[in-house]
Amino acid sequence: MKVASFVRVLVLALFSLVVSSSGIGNCDPTLGFTEVPLTEANFELQKPYDVPLEQRYIYVNGVHRFWVYADDKPHSITSLTQPRTEARIVGLDYSSGVWQFEGYAFVPNGTSGATVAQIHGAAHGNTTLLLRIYNGDMRYYSMDLIQTDLYDKWFKLNIIHDVDGGKVTVFIDGVQKFQSADKGPADLYFKCGVYGAPMNISYYMESRWRDIKIYKK
Ligand SMILES: *[C@@H]1O[C@H](CO)[C@@H](O)[C@H](O)[C@H]1NC(C)=O
Ligand SMILES: *[C@@H]1O[C@H](CO)[C@@H](O)[C@H](O)[C@H]1NC(C)=O
Ligand SMILES: *[C@@H]1O[C@H](CO)[C@@H](O)[C@H](O)[C@H]1NC(C)=O
Repeated sequence: MKVASFVRVLVLALFSLVVSSSGIGNCDPTLGFTEVPLTEANFELQKPYDVPLEQRYIYVNGVHRFWVYADDKPHSITSLTQPRTEARIVGLDYSSGVWQFEGYAFVPNGTSGATVAQIHGAAHGNTTLLLRIYNGDMRYYSMDLIQTDLYDKWFKLNIIHDVDGGKVTVFIDGVQKFQSADKGPADLYFKCGVYGAPMNISYYMESRWRDIKIYKK
């Protein structure tokens, strides 16, 4: 019947309006930002100091694959930190303004206690933000739960660091999932890959990344 189908269309239209205005739908966190072009020279690769890069990292078909083992050495002979295989974005360190990291990430089932992305540097402490995977869930350090059930799937990560406003915001697949005060201006830069947490780390840790982009306002 005509009236019934009109009502159905109306209900569907209202539903999609509610969904899009409630933030359930996707948005583009990069709107209003300008992309900063990256070249290979903007990627500094860090890995256990005593193994060749190709035993912990490979770049094939646009995908960076990083892996590390819990008993690996740190990235330098003098460092006492946990093992890591990470890309550090170089040449784009910042200490003010509004900056954004974007990338598509994949974490295989089994990787746990691994920082997969971070903002290095802070006025207080060494880092502004660590995003860790524990048992498939993403957490802010080992604390706030940001997103569950991330194993074995590609997801889009956006991190906005508003240094002037003193806050960091995390989006998964275009949806805001987390916001926190930052830790003050410093020499700041983005990293991604795998970096062992202090506790509860799996023996094998891996993350894959593609379409890594940096934006600023
Ligand atoms: C991850 O692997 C474990 C062990 O094989 C399995 O029990 C679990 O269901 C897997 N999780 C996902 C999300 O696939
Ligand atoms: C910061 O890093 C240094 C050098 O790796 C380390 O000695 C220190 O304990 C770290 N500080 C914090 C708060 O983690
Ligand atoms: C490590 O795992 C133990 C046991 O599951 C848990 O109680 C503890 O909170 C975890 N610690 C961190 C830092 O995640």
